Amino acid sequence: MKEQIQEQFKQRFGTDGVIYASAGRINLIGEHTDYNGGFVFPGAIDKYIMAEININGTDKVRVFSMDMDAYCEFGLNEEDAPQEQWARYIFGVCRETIKRGGTVKGFDTVFAGNVPLGAGLSSSAALESCFAFALNDLFNDNKIDKFELAKIGQSTEHNYCGVNCGIMDQFASVFGKKDCLMRLDCRSLEHEYFPFHPEGYKVVLLNSKVKHELVDSPYNKRRESCERVAATLGLDTLRDATYTMLADVRDKVSDEDYRRARFVIGEKQRVLDVCDALERGDYETVGRCMYETHDGLSRDYEVSCEELDYLNDVARECGVTGSRIMGGGFGGCTINLVKEDRYDNFIATAKEKFNAKYGHEPEVINVIISDGAHKVID
Ligand code: GLA
Repeated sequence: MKEQIQEQFKQRFGTDGVIYASAGRINLIGEHTDYNGGFVFPGAIDKYIMAEININGTDKVRVFSMDMDAYCEFGLNEEDAPQEQWARYIFGVCRETIKRGGTVKGFDTVFAGNVPLGAGLSSSAALESCFAFALNDLFNDNKIDKFELAKIGQSTEHNYCGVNCGIMDQFASVFGKKDCLMRLDCRSLEHEYFPFHPEGYKVVLLNSKVKHELVDSPYNKRRESCERVAATLGLDTLRDATYTMLADVRDKVSDEDYRRARFVIGEKQRVLDVCDALERGDYETVGRCMYETHDGLSRDYEVSCEELDYLNDVARECGVTGSRIMGGGFGGCTINLVKEDRYDNFIATAKEKFNAKYGHEPEVINVIISDGAHKVID
């Protein structure tokens, strides 16, 4: 990927630039908890967005996306926002950096990636984090701290892309560390690295290839439900909500909102339970929590789909230790924790059965927990 970017950059702009990359992510557990002030447990993966960038001495940004085979040019003022959705991610990062008092001047860039799009692996956060990190390095002497870089990406989603996401994806993409998952308290932003070497197990993703698109999806509606319940409880977020408190307002909230909040309250606790279980090497508990999360996301939070529920059923039949839909939902992948000696049978069975039912095989994605945003070449 690096060589192709370099070749394209040279051809298009006649110079060389600096190369940066940032990662997609998995999340072992803790879904839809970030915007509720709860805990998440993600890790960055070996799937990246990579960009070569060179300051061009003008007030224009000139961008070529290799994957889209598309070019776009825009200025750096608010009214210069491009129409193309893919370019708005980069424009948003520029604007959010400027809004925070940072410097951004014109630059040329070519970027490409191998984070599957719409698979729930946060390709958009990888793109935002790559550029937030790069602009900090190129124009701001790395003075913007890492949490602010993650927030620049998150605000880009809110203000330029229409997704009211939490902080998990951008956090994972910026803070990711090789071989470690990270537990983030999304209220205090305290975080802890957990070395993740599940001896005797593999983590594998199965991509249903049902495209998830969080823009205009019911994602924002889920967040609104949670906020309504929190307000009814007199709280800022559901972080401190309990089942008992929820039961007390049962008549004051809609059935749908009630079920959304019920999921979130359970999920907050599952993250803590999984972290404790991991420290004991108790993968059976980790797996059980993953199935509970799937059931909650499917029945109470209603962000699954038929294909993902089917992959989850097949995992259960094959004795997979833990399996669940991963990320925002509405399509994308399941994440599976599977004993090494059951892996081959699981993959073969899932491919065969899914193909028989839906006419295509799920894509098998093996991931390595890797570093987040970094400079690749000076
Ligand atoms: C998407 C959002 C995240 C998070 C997850 C669900 O990936 O970008 O902020 O809410 O969904 O856990």
